[in-house]
Amino acid sequence: MTKWKNEPFSMNVTAGDIKAFCMCGLSDNAPFCDGAHVTTDKKPHVEKFTEDKTIYICGCRESSKSPYCDGTHKTLSETQ
Ligand code: FES
Repeated sequence: MTKWKNEPFSMNVTAGDIKAFCMCGLSDNAPFCDGAHVTTDKKPHVEKFTEDKTIYICGCRESSKSPYCDGTHKTLSETQ
């Protein structure tokens, strides 16, 4: 179980990887979808990667570029 946090999740992806990122904020396996969205009108962001790279997924759930980090976590207090 991975918790949400006030910093991005960095991860390496490989060409051909398919990831489903949580968009509802309810997942107990952040930042990935665990199916908890069924009680909402949200759906996961599913993406197939075409190259090897490092990505930064929003951990604070406040990014305007969700599921990707836009730096908003830097403006939040530690208690959020
Ligand atoms: S659990 Fe949040 S989008 Fe699926």
